Amino acid sequence: MKSHKIAVIAGDGIGPEVISEGVKVLKAVSKLNPEINFEFTDFPWGCEYYVKTGKMIADDGMETLKKFDAIYLGAVGYPGVPDHISLWGLLLKIRKGFDQYINLRPVKLLNGAECPLKNVDRSQIDMVVIRENSEGEYAGAGDWLFKGKPEEVVLQTGVFSRKGCERVIRYAYELARKEGKTLTSISKANALNYSMVFWDEVFEEIGKEYPDVKTYSYLVDAACMFFVKQPERFQIVVTSNLFGDIVTDLGAAIAGGLGLAAGANLNPERTFPSMFEPVHGSAPDIAGQGKANPLAAIWSVSQMLDFFGYENWGKAVLDAIEKVMVEKKFLTPDMGGTSKTNEVGDAVVKALEEIAANM
Ligand code: NAD
Ligand code: IPM
Ligand code: MN
Repeated sequence: MKSHKIAVIAGDGIGPEVISEGVKVLKAVSKLNPEINFEFTDFPWGCEYYVKTGKMIADDGMETLKKFDAIYLGAVGYPGVPDHISLWGLLLKIRKGFDQYINLRPVKLLNGAECPLKNVDRSQIDMVVIRENSEGEYAGAGDWLFKGKPEEVVLQTGVFSRKGCERVIRYAYELARKEGKTLTSISKANALNYSMVFWDEVFEEIGKEYPDVKTYSYLVDAACMFFVKQPERFQIVVTSNLFGDIVTDLGAAIAGGLGLAAGANLNPERTFPSMFEPVHGSAPDIAGQGKANPLAAIWSVSQMLDFFGYENWGKAVLDAIEKVMVEKKFLTPDMGGTSKTNEVGDAVVKALEEIAANM
């Protein structure tokens, strides 16, 4: 029997509410296939921990996390603690510290999910956004000069290294080749005359090694327009850290909402643990009311199963999510239902049991 050690950082706001449903699904997978086992360890890190200790994570937290096979994270950030402190103290610290340079965010309109766009066929919204996740606009570098003075100047430096750009772009080409899909780069070289000119050059250079992959390159503003007007233009998408952040919330909006958008933060070399999390945040407006949609957190469990090599179980979990959405009996208010977070989680487990019976 294979056992996987999972560090659970439920985090803030709706984080704990959705993460407990994802853990429930992982436990169900393990029960349905006793060959797979998970050992969960909970960590209390987040904004409450910060208020008590002045730290977002324990001093030896990163060392502790290194020993795990994966991290399952809810959300970080809550009113009362400045966002740049909480996020750089935990979420971004982990992504960067564990060199999780691939952020894999599927944008796929599942059966049963509502799309706000007119006249779209489900097959037209089916892409994977690969977001650079370790540097770029999120390098964390900058300066704040002449604070409070009339000549005050603030600099936020983007860092685009050859290694950093090549590895994420190569990963995207490999995925496009493996899946026989087109690859689209989203950048902005008309205005960002250093970083994005370099990005485009690297995209083209690496492309020479993949003559079999059909490529496109869009400016980010036009890409946003096409996400809405003609989402079928996109299959595999590769983009920088900030643009990837923004286009994946737009992607979530066209594919069923933030309550359904999942993401994997991968360290492909497996030198460090990878992290799985919903795309959404702590949603303070609905926290503590049982209204949070757990499907995004559960989809990220499906990504975790894929990452561990249990693709058949990853698919089964996704199929279970779809089944629950098609039946429309147990959905949270963001999807037009009246069910509580835990009832949706239970419905996914039940659907999974039914699917597993035919596996
Ligand atoms: P948010 O994603 O938390 O919420 C945006 C809107 O979507 C809200 O109306 C919320 O109710 C709704 N929503 C989000 N997830 C939902 C779910 N599962 N079910 C139903 N509705 C859902 O974004 P925000 O309000 O901009 O940010 C709130 C806090 O979360 C901030 O501190 C922000 O920095 C942080 N944040 C953290 C992460 C993360 O940890 N990965 C991601 C985004 C935002
Ligand atoms: C996300 C979030 C984070 C990001 C924030 C909270 C720092 O928006 O995971 O999409 O920008 O990466
Ligand atoms: Mn985001």
